[in-house]
Amino acid sequence: MESAAMSQIGLAGLAVMGQNLALNIAEKGFPISVYNRTTSKVDETLDRAHREGQLPLFGQYTPKDFVLSIKKPRSIIILVKAGAPVDQTIAALSAYMEPGDTIIDGGNEWYENTERRMVDASASGLLYLGMGVSGGEDGARHGPSLMPGGAHRAYLNIHHILEKVAAQVDDGPCVTYIGEGGSGNFVKMVHNGIEYGDMQLISEAYDVLKNAGGLGNEELAEIFGEWNRGELESFLIEITSDIFRVEDEETGNGHLVDKILDKTGMKGTGKWTVQQAAELSIAAPTIAASLDSRYMSGLKEEREEAAEIFKKEGLKEEINNVSAVDKKRLIDDVRQALYASKICSYAQGMNLLRAKSMEKGWGLNLGELARIWKGGCIIRAVFLDRIKQAYQRNPGLANLLVDPEFAREMVQRQAAWRRVVGLAIQKGISVPGMSASLQYFDTYRRGRLPANLVQAQRDYFGAHTYERIDRPGSYHTEWSKLARKARV
Ligand SMILES: *[C@@H]1O[C@H](CO)[C@@H](O)[C@H](O)[C@H]1NC(C)=O
Ligand SMILES: *[C@@H]1O[C@H](CO)[C@@H](O)[C@H](O)[C@H]1NC(C)=O
Repeated sequence: MESAAMSQIGLAGLAVMGQNLALNIAEKGFPISVYNRTTSKVDETLDRAHREGQLPLFGQYTPKDFVLSIKKPRSIIILVKAGAPVDQTIAALSAYMEPGDTIIDGGNEWYENTERRMVDASASGLLYLGMGVSGGEDGARHGPSLMPGGAHRAYLNIHHILEKVAAQVDDGPCVTYIGEGGSGNFVKMVHNGIEYGDMQLISEAYDVLKNAGGLGNEELAEIFGEWNRGELESFLIEITSDIFRVEDEETGNGHLVDKILDKTGMKGTGKWTVQQAAELSIAAPTIAASLDSRYMSGLKEEREEAAEIFKKEGLKEEINNVSAVDKKRLIDDVRQALYASKICSYAQGMNLLRAKSMEKGWGLNLGELARIWKGGCIIRAVFLDRIKQAYQRNPGLANLLVDPEFAREMVQRQAAWRRVVGLAIQKGISVPGMSASLQYFDTYRRGRLPANLVQAQRDYFGAHTYERIDRPGSYHTEWSKLARKARV
């Protein structure tokens, strides 16, 4: 099908995500042009558009034909690997684009790269959006969560398309204008950091239930299925239940999950989240613990050797000793521990977003961000609606934990949470995410911390001075002199 400048939008980069997003856009009734340097990718996409319902999708084989086939002002989504491929694609396409046209990078790009490209693009009158896209291939095809940031005018050009293409939830489409600059990429990055946390916490719940509770895969599938009908209802809990049901087709013997190498891959957004948290002095221990756990999972051979060394030295594996465990209570405790841990992790992510928003003047609306994560994306969950409400009740909320509703839930769950972390520690089952969350809670909720002693030490050896609780000003003390006097 050939057509003169009739597509309403274009998409370049036809790997899985690109193909699926293009098909989604076409299916919602917006004629779209697609392009990929590798022409077989274009043909593949055309073929799918044909098979999946004669969708209005038009393949183009040169950057020029591609750009010229799109109605002005043009909006072109690029979905290629972050980094240099984005620059190359922009260079190839922008040669034919005109002032007022827009480039939309839908990849997991570092937000500063987006801000640099934004400046470059504006030199030739082009507008730019960095748009987080979450939901994996299925989300891209049937409704992702979209996080576009950058030129507001560019957003207005395509918001009617994005609103149709995004996942739909009870309170609207899972898309909103995020803010200026690289805010769309930044929000997507933190979304991924929170996703790291969720996955780590779920894996710890699995570990405790399996190794302290003696639960098998069938039981785990049941339990996660049940949890998915309550307050934990979410995409990740749902797929976890599915995973425990899948048999190993390779050997025809046992469940596939038990055959998978315990070494986690990653692509960098979790690391960026932790780096940004450190840069902005925001405590994000649960997200950091999930990142560290991925690093340590990578040391498979070392861990196996360590297990041997400690066994030889007499370390007894407490794992699988389920004699003294009340299974029913453990399951209920783990559910509560998981929920409470998760709230702490989201609180950390939200605080990071707010700190960055203040630094950059982005004006992020945290309630609205929680809302667009309710559908389409990997962390979609029923309780995001409650996070949305918490920030709507009080946009200046210092921490999610002190929202009255969440505060009550934390208090209700803390005993179970402590039992789970305590049991895991006693049995030597590592629960870095759950315990980091618990430590976050216990540190945040205490009016007085031992930081007074740290201040005394800093003043002792470095004359860094300290403040007092009972009078204003900063003080320095000759600690060693006074201590010597006190000794005699
Ligand atoms: C085209 O396809 C190849 C292979 O899938 C990919 O590496 C490349 O980045 C794609 N994008 C563009 C814009 O050519
Ligand atoms: C199993 O746990 C119980 C209760 O904690 C303990 O008394 C028992 O010694 C343990 N058994 C083994 C084999 O470690």
